[in-house]
Amino acid sequence: MDVINKMKNIMELILLNVIMNLIILTKHTTKKRITFMFTLPDLPYGYDAFGKYISKNIMELHHSKHHQTYVDNVNKALEKAPELAGKSIEELITNLDEAPESVRSIIRNHGGGHYNHSLFWQFMTPDGHGQPNGNLGPALNEKYGDFQSFMDEFGAKALGVFGSGWAWLMPDLSITTTPNQDSPIMEGSPPPLLGLDVWEHAYYLDYTYKRADYIKAWWNVVNWTEAEKRFDAANSQ
Ligand SMILES: [Fe+2]
Repeated sequence: MDVINKMKNIMELILLNVIMNLIILTKHTTKKRITFMFTLPDLPYGYDAFGKYISKNIMELHHSKHHQTYVDNVNKALEKAPELAGKSIEELITNLDEAPESVRSIIRNHGGGHYNHSLFWQFMTPDGHGQPNGNLGPALNEKYGDFQSFMDEFGAKALGVFGSGWAWLMPDLSITTTPNQDSPIMEGSPPPLLGLDVWEHAYYLDYTYKRADYIKAWWNVVNWTEAEKRFDAANSQ
C-alpha cells in the first residue's frame, strides 16, 4: 500500500506541476498578445483646450468615443486574424491585401480611423500661431501665391468632400482629400503634413451643418510647428 500511496503522491505532484506551468504559459501568452493591441493615445492637451473653436463636448466625444471605437474594432479584427499581430497600424493599412478578406474592410475603416485620428490630435494645439514659419511658410507662399490663397484652396477642398472624409496637405504641398477613413498612405503616398477631419462627428455639435464655419475656426488651432517638423523631415530624406 505504501508503494501505491507514494506513486499516487508523485503523480499528484507531477499533475500539479503541469497545471502550474500551463497557468504561467497562459499568462505569458495573454500578456504577449495584449502588447500587440492598439490603444487610444492620450491627447497632448485637455478636452477644453480649444475653447470657442472646438468645444470640450466635441473633443471628449471625438476622442473618448469615436477614436476609442476605431481602436476597439481594429483590435477585435486582429483577434480574428492573429497572423497580423505585431504589425504597426501603418503596416496594416498600407498592406490591406495581406489581410484576410473577412477583416479587410474593418482594418481599412477602423485601422484607418485610428491612424488618421492619432495624427489629427497632433495637428492641433492650443498654442497655434496662425501661420507656419520656418521653411514651410515660404514654400506655401511660393506654391499658392500667398498664405490666404493656400487656406482658401485647402478650405474649398475640405468643404467639397462629399459625405465623410478628410482633407490633407501633402509633403509636396499638394492638397488632397480621402473619403471615409482612408488615408493617403493607403495609396502609397507619404504621410501628410496636416489633415482636417470633416466627418460631421468632428463639428456638428458646435456648427451643425455649417462645415465652412468649422473649417474657418480650425485654422486657429492648427499646429504649424508639427506641420513644419514633418515638412523638414520629408525634405531631408
Ligand atoms: Fe473624427
